Order: sequence, then C-alpha cells, then structure tokens
Amino acid sequence: MSARLPLPEGFLFGAATSPHQVEGNNVASDWWAFENREGTIVAERSGDACDSFERWREDMDLLRSLGFNSYRFGVEWARVEPTRGEFSRSAVAHYTRMVEYALAIGLEPVVTLHHFTHPLWFARDGGWTADDAIDRFLAYVDAVAPVIRAGVATVVTINEPNMLAVMQTVVRGEAALETGLGGGLPVPHRETAERLAEAHRAAVDRLHRDHPGVKAGWSIANQAVGHVADGEALAADYRESREDWYLRQSRADDFVGVQSYPRTVFGADGIVPPAADAARTLTGWEVYPAALGDAIRQTAGIVGDVPIIVTENGIATADDEQRIAYTAGALDEVARALEDGIDVRGYLHWSALDNYEWGHWGPTVGLIAVDRTTFARAPKPSAHWLGAIAREGALPLAERPVAEPALNPAGVRS
Ligand code: BGC
Repeated sequence: MSARLPLPEGFLFGAATSPHQVEGNNVASDWWAFENREGTIVAERSGDACDSFERWREDMDLLRSLGFNSYRFGVEWARVEPTRGEFSRSAVAHYTRMVEYALAIGLEPVVTLHHFTHPLWFARDGGWTADDAIDRFLAYVDAVAPVIRAGVATVVTINEPNMLAVMQTVVRGEAALETGLGGGLPVPHRETAERLAEAHRAAVDRLHRDHPGVKAGWSIANQAVGHVADGEALAADYRESREDWYLRQSRADDFVGVQSYPRTVFGADGIVPPAADAARTLTGWEVYPAALGDAIRQTAGIVGDVPIIVTENGIATADDEQRIAYTAGALDEVARALEDGIDVRGYLHWSALDNYEWGHWGPTVGLIAVDRTTFARAPKPSAHWLGAIAREGALPLAERPVAEPALNPAGVRS
C-alpha cells in the first residue's frame, strides 16, 4: 500500500454540502413547507440543521485545517429570492462573503446554484413546468452575479437533475419511491427533465456571457447500472432514461459532476438484489465503493473529453472505520481512472458535515460530526485521514484484485 499516484495540478480535493441540509431555517423554501405542514410524511424536520448559515466560517476553517483545498457549497435560491421578484441583497452579500473567505483561506469554492429546493412561490406557481420557469431561474442566476464575480471558477448549475425529475414523478403521484432502491428509481418526469435541461443550458450560456472564464456544468446522480447474464437490455433501457440522457446534455459543458453511491445490477428478470449478507449503509444501500469507478467510466464513455469532477461520493454509516474503508476503495477507483487517462479534476466527498438527509438525521454521512443541540463540530478520524491524503496531493494505490467481484456489472469495468 505504499505506491502513490500524484494528483494532477489543480485537482479539487475537498468535501461538499448543500444549503438546505446544513444552513438551517430555510423557511421560504418548498422543502421547509413540506417538512412542516400538518400531517407531513417527513420523519424529521431540518429545523436549525447544522446552523451553517451562521457557522460557515468555522466549517471552512475546519476543512482547510484538515488539509482540503476545495469546498463545494450552495447558494439557496429561496433565500436570494424569498418572494417572487424580490431579491435579498443581504443574502447575496452573505454568499459573496462565503466565496471571498473561502478564497482567502485557500479553499477553492465550487458553487451549486440549485440543490433540490425551490422557493415556495416557484413551486406553487407551477415549478419547472410553468411557462416562465426558465426566465425565473435566469433572473436568479443574474441576481447571484456578485457571488460568482467574487472569484468562483466552478459552478454547478443544477444538482442531480435526474433525481429532481424522479422526485417530480413521485410528487405527482405517478410512482412511489421505495426505500433502499430495491425496485430501482421511478422513471424521471419527462417534461421536468426537458425543462431542467433547458434551464441548465440557458444558465451555462448566461454564466459564460457574464463571467468569462467560469466553468459551468451540472452534476448527475449515477447508479452504476450494470448487468449479469441476460440483463443487458434492461440495464441499457434503465440507464437511458435515468442517466444517459442527462449525461448527453453535458457534452458541451466545461465539466460534468459525477455523484456516486450505490449500484444497480440487472438480470434477465429485473434488478438483482445485493447478496443477503452484503454490508448496507444506514440508508439501506449496498456498500460498494467500486460504484464510483463504474460511474466515472460510464460518464466518460458518454461525455467524451468533457472533464469530470466527482462532486459527491460518500457513505451513511455510524462506523467511521467503515467510512475510511469505503472511501479508500472509492479513491482507488479515482486513481485507476486517472491511470487510464480519464480526465478527473476533483474529488469532493459527501458530506463535510453530518447533515440533514432529506427527512432524516439518522444517516450520518459527514466527515465532521455536529452536535444537534450545541452545533459543536468534531472532525472524525475519517476527516483527518482524508485530509492528510488531500494535503499530500497523491492517491494511495491499493493492490489490484486478481478477480473481479461476482456481481460486478459486466461491460462497465475495464
Ligand atoms: C444528494 C445529496 C444527498 C446525498 C446522499 C445526493 O443524492 O445530492 O443531497 O444528501 O445524495 O443521500
């Protein structure tokens, strides 16, 4: 385990969060309304979350002191435009300060403009399928110009548009979302998907026009879809509507974000469940670090020479040793991809903090624990371990396995 692969110059090595999951009191958003309405089906509310709207400096200081050189965080549309057409100068100034501070301490900001939540007014006025949805999103992109101008080089326009469109299928009552992904993801809502792609394209053009040199892309949830005997056609069909279509929209972008957690394996009759004794995350997903390699290769196969940034990868576990083992496996996949000449420009671990996992506080995904009453931060051993690798600027190279795992998706791995 002593071999090392030096990382390319400028490699972004850090961790990620999203506004709703860490800031707290995102009261003008649709998610806040969803969590807090009478008889909500949401198990737990976000509430004060990690209080990062106040404590973001502490978060950044910690990440930097751990050894990271990058932090992916988001701007919250519902704070910037809490009422239709009324933009908050204070919110824009807040995010501008975040960018300035990150740069001042040596953290390269990767800024997400949209991460699952919407201003409540936008959702009520028809969401992404409303006639003026694209114009509304562009008005927001215009409003955050000072944030970008403060020195942001990398912008994720929309986080996981494929999952956003899946959520629309669920919200519209056209399918139920199973926990544990046993039955796979519902088909993303087509019209929403098309509007999101249109919004993304328009936002990229606007960013290029107003902020020359800024790199813009979106980030796609990747299920590392593979197959065993006779599952190829089902796998290809599933991948097309859930992922490949979105990846093709990235072909003209400056980068594409890869977000990898579980894998999905098809056989002749549908999804092959993980082995009964397979280790599971706190969200019920199979623990399978090699999914990241599959996701990177699938993405590269579709986007060609568009650079890849791993914008999310991590594990919901209470066992930090397991987090380290999982992440070591995932980093080895990044190393193999780099060795094979794939243009991977960054690894941003999900998540920096034990955050609000969309309805639950139980699945702890953070490198840094957060006390839910005092908000005190405590970096876990995994944070020190990963930070040390980032500081060194080289990935450890694991022994190469002699045989591939039995359920490895055929045709995806090299
Ligand atoms: C999302 C995050 C989420 C993570 C882990 C991704 O789908 O972008 O917001 O917390 O998965 O569940």
